[in-house]
Amino acid sequence: MDARPSAPVPPPGCPAHGSGSRVPLYGPEFAADPHAYYSYLRSYGPAAPVELAPGVEATLVTDYTAALQLLQDSASFRKDSRRWRAFNEGHVTPDSPVVPLLAYRPNCMFSDGAEHLRLRQAVTDSMARIDQRRLSRTTEQVSNYLIAQFGYRGSADLLGSYARQLPLFVFNELFGCPADIGDRVLFGISGMFDGVNAEKAAEVLFGAVGELVALKRTRPAEDVTSWLMQHHAKLTDEEMVHQLALLLAAGTEPLGNLIGNTLHRLLTHDAYAHTGGLIDDAIDETLWENPPMSNLAPHYPAVDMDFAGQRLQAGDLVLVSFAAANSSPALAAARQASSRAHLAWSAGPHACPSKDPARQISVTAIENLLNQLPDIQLAVPEESLTWRPGPFNRGLSALPTRFTPVEPARRPAQHARPEPPVRAEQAAQANRTPERGGRWSQFLNWLTK
Ligand code: HEM
Repeated sequence: MDARPSAPVPPPGCPAHGSGSRVPLYGPEFAADPHAYYSYLRSYGPAAPVELAPGVEATLVTDYTAALQLLQDSASFRKDSRRWRAFNEGHVTPDSPVVPLLAYRPNCMFSDGAEHLRLRQAVTDSMARIDQRRLSRTTEQVSNYLIAQFGYRGSADLLGSYARQLPLFVFNELFGCPADIGDRVLFGISGMFDGVNAEKAAEVLFGAVGELVALKRTRPAEDVTSWLMQHHAKLTDEEMVHQLALLLAAGTEPLGNLIGNTLHRLLTHDAYAHTGGLIDDAIDETLWENPPMSNLAPHYPAVDMDFAGQRLQAGDLVLVSFAAANSSPALAAARQASSRAHLAWSAGPHACPSKDPARQISVTAIENLLNQLPDIQLAVPEESLTWRPGPFNRGLSALPTRFTPVEPARRPAQHARPEPPVRAEQAAQANRTPERGGRWSQFLNWLTK
């Protein structure tokens, strides 16, 4: 029986139209106004039937209390996606666009119980060893380098040229990547996110990370790779590669979107003056209203059960909408009481283990940009900005800006070359093997000038 009230109207473009079909969380209509979809989904109760991609069915928890209940009950809800019934029964095929993110890998994100504790502890202990001053210095150096590539032009797409680039360079430094390995890590991870020749990009990335692990076994240093390796969890080489790949994948995409979504907020809300003091507030408000991971935390019920008004079978895919939970009407009072009660970092045993370094990188990156380009403003009407489609991440396609040109502190690496559109550049790169002298080498050369 359909228990939905009749009043709420499906948002424009949503084929649900009260017929009982699943609400699609993909496509341009969802990307254009996800909150209209979340309002509608609330009419089902604390959880609703959705489709993540054509034919990929899931239950989405939109209510804050139900979300916390799920995230904290690891006996009833498991993370190991080898339990995913629709995938095991062939209803979802390996070529589905959601499979790369949901398919099992031997890392902490897909583990439960004692195995999860062991793998996660290695990550949290290693990330905790990052020196905050070093992290700020590295972020500032990368920020200066990236600004030097476009600052003299007086205009830039802050997404492609800054927000999405900066985390990749910072991670290369944290991991202790030498030039040739770092070039391939940047090439591989960018290609995987861009989806251009993603298979080859993944091969390059895993090959490079494998070499990094072999290198640090013989020549450990003060970096996250070596700390992970030295941890008493005693990770095997295979586990090392998967943990590092997870850190890169789980870290760089949402970090780029946190920087991008916060810059978008700062540039579109008059209330923010361009001063360092308000950046923390803008980050918090972004985490509440526009969290970089909007719908994730895939879980699989261990047994058949009733949950949040839905009948679930063991192995069904259940996700949490961090974005919808944050805007639950019932949460308004909690938001007044605590500026950080939101679920943008998730909660429970699988909550993000890196929110402190992620915040620190974001604050430094935004502060340095605004200090160097104090009159930066949007170069297009706000209404013309578009968001990348897809159910999981929330990030702009581009953030075109203009500002008074600045003389770079040091000469940019490719001063004479016009800025290529990032996607075209990556497409070109995807068809050839990355060579020595790639983006990481250029940054290292620039540092020593
Ligand atoms: C330094 C950057 C970051 C690193 C290294 C990192 C790393 C990770 C890792 C390893 C996990 C899996 C934890 C587990 O399963 O036990 C995770 C989960 C998560 N992270 Fe982060 N993260 C970073 C930045 C961010 C940012 C900027 C956001 C967005 C605000 C974010 C939101 C989340 C969320 C929501 C989860 C739970 C995902 C799920 O259960 O499916 N993270 N992160």
